[in-house]
Amino acid sequence: MSTLIINIKQLLQVHDTNTTILKGSDMKKLPIIENAYLYIENDTIIEYGEMKDCEGFNPETTINAKGKIVLPSWCDSHTHVVYAGNRTSEFVDRINGLSYEDIANKGGGILNSAKKLQETSEDELYEQSIKRLNELIKMGTGAVEIKTGYGLTVEAELKMLRVIKRMKQESLAKIIPTLLAAHAIPSEFKSKKQDYIKYITEELIPKAAELNITNYVDVFCEEGYFDIKDTEAILKAGEAYNLRPKIHVNQFNILGGIALGVKYNALSVDHIEELNDADVEALKGTDTIPVALPGCSYFLSIPYTPARKLIDAGLPLAIATDYNPGSSPSGNMNFVVSAACVKLKMTPEEAINAATVNGAYAMGISNMYGSITRGKKANLIITKPMNHYSEIPYAFAHNPVEQVIINGQILD
Ligand code: NIG
Ligand code: FE
Repeated sequence: MSTLIINIKQLLQVHDTNTTILKGSDMKKLPIIENAYLYIENDTIIEYGEMKDCEGFNPETTINAKGKIVLPSWCDSHTHVVYAGNRTSEFVDRINGLSYEDIANKGGGILNSAKKLQETSEDELYEQSIKRLNELIKMGTGAVEIKTGYGLTVEAELKMLRVIKRMKQESLAKIIPTLLAAHAIPSEFKSKKQDYIKYITEELIPKAAELNITNYVDVFCEEGYFDIKDTEAILKAGEAYNLRPKIHVNQFNILGGIALGVKYNALSVDHIEELNDADVEALKGTDTIPVALPGCSYFLSIPYTPARKLIDAGLPLAIATDYNPGSSPSGNMNFVVSAACVKLKMTPEEAINAATVNGAYAMGISNMYGSITRGKKANLIITKPMNHYSEIPYAFAHNPVEQVIINGQILD
């Protein structure tokens, strides 16, 4: 199978040498080729360059991208796409004045989603989840991290992992599963949190590791959920099974989760709506990437991640959807890229870098995804006609995507 895309107005994120992360002021640079071509064989980017040099190819399919932009598919490094039902009644409760915390304290929130998921059959959960994933793919996402965490029992967590595995087998998208071992404390453990942590470290993590589906472990490190001591116990247990941390930190409160993540060589520390100078210092010179989730800030009306503070300190930053039923029921990366510009004060170049190369880094796959580089996977977005890539974030809540190519396959 071979495809040649010709007359591309702007080909974005072109790196001849394999770039796997962009930090600080390097995030301002978005290398492009104007009036370009791109040649794909099977699932791989083979060649690209200026149209004047486009010769000698004999493709099975040719796409004329005149007036359109081509870029690597979005890499969404933080989602909870596998869930059952939704939480629209809590949405209305929040409109009427309750906070996310008030709802959780009433036994709603994550516990509400866990109850629904426990009652939902594995097949039904798969059907609901794959439908969401397919919608994301149409909106330009080609690689996606998916967390467990709505199980809260060994049985239900393993069910989630099996659903993610099946999605991995059935979908063309690249899927990175994460065991969100500690997302909330079930009501039966309410006054026995230490027993629940033991259950996670001694039963859930070993049993999940046996399935060999995931390489990552997550914890919701937050007041009212898991404190620093709890988080450390879980990260330690994960480490024993080679599970690298990708953790929820600093969403509402600063507990020291960033420094703890760095101590355990976390691949990413996500949310960071709250941030202090010690957090910034802890991240410097490490392999841990911070991840901002502007859709969650939008939906919950909480502060946006201070992206400028992170990037201007020379750090990398990725952006992701946090697609989940409670705090961000949208998996639209186009909106996230726009919100990163409007609310996080990132330039279009920084936002696109954060949603491609750096998103791939935050999933441990940036050697094969996230840029236009010879030998990388052919996961691509072809936009609707536009004059400049800045129109992607500018026209917020519009859909800029006309066509997607995923694993070299052109989707209808
Ligand atoms: O990333 N913060 C914790 N987890 C999710 C929300 C979970 C939920 O409300 O269902 C998040 O925002
Ligand atoms: Fe999340």
